[in-house]
Amino acid sequence: MENINICIAGLGNVGSALVQLIEKNAEFVKYKSDLKINIIGLSAKNKSKKRDFDISNYFWVDKPIRLLNIQGKKPNILVELIGYEKDISYELVKSALNQNINVVTGNKAMLAKYGNELFSIAEENKVLLLFEAAVAGGIPIIKTIKNNLFLNKINKISGILNGTTNYILTTMELEDKSFEDVLVDAKQKGFTSDHEAKLDIGGYDAAHKLTLLTSLAYGSEVDFELNEVEGIDKITIEDIKFAKQLGYKIKLISETSIIENTIYASTKPKLVSKENPIANTNGPLNAINVETDELKSLYLEGEGAGGFPTASSILSDIYEISNSTGYKSLGFTNSKLVKFKKFNSSNLESKYYLRIRAKEQPGVLSMITSYFNEANISIEKILQIPDNDSDSIPIVITTHKIISSELLSSVKKISDLDFILGYISLIPIEN
Ligand code: HSE
Repeated sequence: MENINICIAGLGNVGSALVQLIEKNAEFVKYKSDLKINIIGLSAKNKSKKRDFDISNYFWVDKPIRLLNIQGKKPNILVELIGYEKDISYELVKSALNQNINVVTGNKAMLAKYGNELFSIAEENKVLLLFEAAVAGGIPIIKTIKNNLFLNKINKISGILNGTTNYILTTMELEDKSFEDVLVDAKQKGFTSDHEAKLDIGGYDAAHKLTLLTSLAYGSEVDFELNEVEGIDKITIEDIKFAKQLGYKIKLISETSIIENTIYASTKPKLVSKENPIANTNGPLNAINVETDELKSLYLEGEGAGGFPTASSILSDIYEISNSTGYKSLGFTNSKLVKFKKFNSSNLESKYYLRIRAKEQPGVLSMITSYFNEANISIEKILQIPDNDSDSIPIVITTHKIISSELLSSVKKISDLDFILGYISLIPIEN
């Protein structure tokens, strides 16, 4: 029987679930893995908070940094679940790695920003810095790419990497509610908080996760700047309903691939055909599709957030550390990581959905279509829907494939016309 001594910093949803999981499954874990996981220290912001386990059973320290030396004993693994992009999370992780302590973390914001430095400190010190919990909660996507698919040539990874935004988009449609109303509801249900909402809604949380997937898949240095990021705050219930009429769902899609030897890493709302399984990934679920030369499509769907699903990923990292003989946290050795350039996506071709609100007056439609003709943009469908409650009308257009910079320049001209009201909603359609 091997003893593994761990310390846990941060006892929010995931940290608390991890303690309970280790308590509950101690015998089962011993039986299956010959491991005895001992929690030798805990630390969190508030010791007296009511929790679902008895903290008096554990050694407590107020300052997380003290977890690295519990009564003269170094843990084998520090589990960092505080979740700050820098500050104590970064200091603690760096200090642990420098003292040859393995680290398991769910902190994608920290890794997306400081991953290069931290992964290289880990390798130099012959320890692991593992992060299954940082991407898509309970879905084992990191080990799938790092182990099972490591020798596959990965063409593209795409999917839904943020549960909060998926919950918001799904609930807007199901309950016919505005973005603002469902955001309040998402906060009440604990999917996001005032602090996290900016990262979730703005697409940054998904882009942090995609940054890590890009490195794993393509051996690129961890570089958040490679991402194009657009959130869901401009998506209206009107867009969701029109998309449905056209046979699509709106989803926040993250995707990464190599195009012309550069990285295209994008997180933005897209119209996805209702036949595509991703369109039917609802509520706070996440889903990821991996396309490789050898394996056309591997689709994983599951709980992308939440205490127990994410704690299960942490447990899998603890198990990996106990089994591992190497120190390649990212699959690649650090010296092999390459600094890629960012793809210039203005050259990218896609079909598009546009929603334009215009004054109800003669000639509006022909004027709009004449700008499209001029730019050689081919329209696939056009809907002009009378709105009895208003003297303006929504016009919905879908295009055939078009280079995005060309479409943008026509849209700019159209939006300057005096009969156009408000902004023009422009959303790519998944090819
Ligand atoms: N805020 C994240 C989400 C939590 O909504 O997906 C899991 O990373």
